[in-house]
Amino acid sequence: MIKENNRILEVKNLSVSYGKKVAIKNVNFTLREKEILGFIGADGAGKSSTLHAIAGVVSFEGEIIYRGYIYHSPKEAEKIKNEISLMPQGLGLVLYDFLSVKEHFDFFRGLRGLKKDIEYETRLLKMAGLYEFQDRLARNLSGGMRQKLSLILSLLPRPKLLILDEPTTGVDPISRVELWNIVSEMRKEGMSAIISTAYMSEASKMDRLMLFDEGEIIAVGTSQELTDSIKDYTYEGEIESSKCFSFNKKTYCLEPLPLNKATPTLEGVFFVNALKKGKKPILIEVSKKDLKIPDIIVKAKCLTKKFGNFIADDCIDLELRKGEILGLLGANGAGKTTLIKMLLGLYPIDEGELYLLGKRIKSFEDRIELKSKIGYVSQKFSLYKDLTIKENLEYFGRMHSLDTKEIKEKIDKYSKMFGFEGYLNSFPKDVPLGINQRFSLAAALLHEPLVLFLDEPTSGVDTIARSVFWKLLRKLKNNLGISILITTHYMSEAEYCDRVVVLKRGKKIMDEEITKLHEMYPNMDFEEIFLKVYKEN
Ligand SMILES: Nc1ncnc2c1ncn2[C@@H]1O[C@H](COP(=O)(O)OP(=O)(O)OP(=O)(O)O)[C@@H](O)[C@H]1O
Ligand SMILES: [Mg+2]
Repeated sequence: MIKENNRILEVKNLSVSYGKKVAIKNVNFTLREKEILGFIGADGAGKSSTLHAIAGVVSFEGEIIYRGYIYHSPKEAEKIKNEISLMPQGLGLVLYDFLSVKEHFDFFRGLRGLKKDIEYETRLLKMAGLYEFQDRLARNLSGGMRQKLSLILSLLPRPKLLILDEPTTGVDPISRVELWNIVSEMRKEGMSAIISTAYMSEASKMDRLMLFDEGEIIAVGTSQELTDSIKDYTYEGEIESSKCFSFNKKTYCLEPLPLNKATPTLEGVFFVNALKKGKKPILIEVSKKDLKIPDIIVKAKCLTKKFGNFIADDCIDLELRKGEILGLLGANGAGKTTLIKMLLGLYPIDEGELYLLGKRIKSFEDRIELKSKIGYVSQKFSLYKDLTIKENLEYFGRMHSLDTKEIKEKIDKYSKMFGFEGYLNSFPKDVPLGINQRFSLAAALLHEPLVLFLDEPTSGVDTIARSVFWKLLRKLKNNLGISILITTHYMSEAEYCDRVVVLKRGKKIMDEEITKLHEMYPNMDFEEIFLKVYKEN
């Protein structure tokens, strides 16, 4: 039972619309003191809109009551803004590129009228792994470092109500653990929080979860209650079927299957919900083709990149073979993006040798003829913001000399496959992060490259879309022999790679096949293996 005086937030009949589009309708819930409430749900389900309404940054219908204070609009919410802290979604959107980490602290402290608390600030900086990099400009931080800087800035005022919109997207597994330690300590001091997340392992740490679907809350409960509700539909192993979803070594099906039942996980709640709504898995077809592909796609010998005195990548050897999915893993700032940028020629190589598709790369000219064979999804959103999603894809198609008919067919195919057909006429800034990621991938695939470089393509993407995405990657590999170099902070996705290379502070600490790793570390899942290897090296 919720005690009346325990209640710090009441949301009554909340609706948010953008023009004709209804983002959420008639949402009702309460939040208790010291409670951590988790929002989960598909991309575009209405989580961010709900968070923004509570934080008083968008107009809404309905009523919100925060500790007895009633508000109906952003203007009325002004009064309580000092007690609430919002961290919006996106890799460090609230940062200023030309301010350093330290200057961000000074700026935000001034803005919120806070006194300097060196001990607390030091703790936040250390938690985020930014203590040593206080003089670095935000523009020179890695994606995850930017995310963590935004996060600790939102913790700086010690808010009574903390609202975090996917705070751990792009954040490495080690920092995710540290973040949770801080949140639970602040909770002891009386803070409540509402946190949306795409990582189901951390959703299970919340006191209560609300599952959003197409603008409504369709389930509320503890993690245990939600997973219990799908136990009859969860099976061991993966199968190819038009009636069931398979992902991460499990299959979800409403009809009985001749397979062993498996312990349900929160990820399964999404699949079972989709099945109950009559949704079917998308069948991904990639017809077999014998493409002329050399055996070694990338060979890098002792690649090194320095920024001033700082060595971002220190003599990295790397090989990517034909038809291989190679996972490039490592904590935030380990040097993954920098390495990919060297491979692509976006950063000059300071030392070392590079061969791409059999060709020694020495200058920019050496790369020109290879361009049409390479696809790239960058970590930082890099398509045109003032073109609609459809126009962006058309532009990319034309850049690669595809004809109009071909472009149209491909846009049709990928938008259906990745579920962004409803967003084709929207601008990138108006759509959820997960949707932008999906069409970035489509853009990289339009010209049918032989090798794909994917820098965190699944960060912030919902569970079902990630499962479609991995199915496609495996088909591209199996049916066409395409090679893929991919970075991810979802350790469960590493299971889909053939081999992983792990970087730590610019050095390679591991290069091993996944099957071998499971032999070396029996009975451990990949996240446990990763954390152990990282600690020991
Ligand atoms: N232009 C630059 N100037 C100075 N330092 C830089 C620059 N670009 C990157 N760095 C630094 O190099 C290191 C590696 O960054 P990189 O982006 O490669 O990390 P990453 O492994 O991709 O991390 P993440 O998981 O957060 O994406 C970081 O410490 C980053 O701050
Ligand atoms: Mg990166």
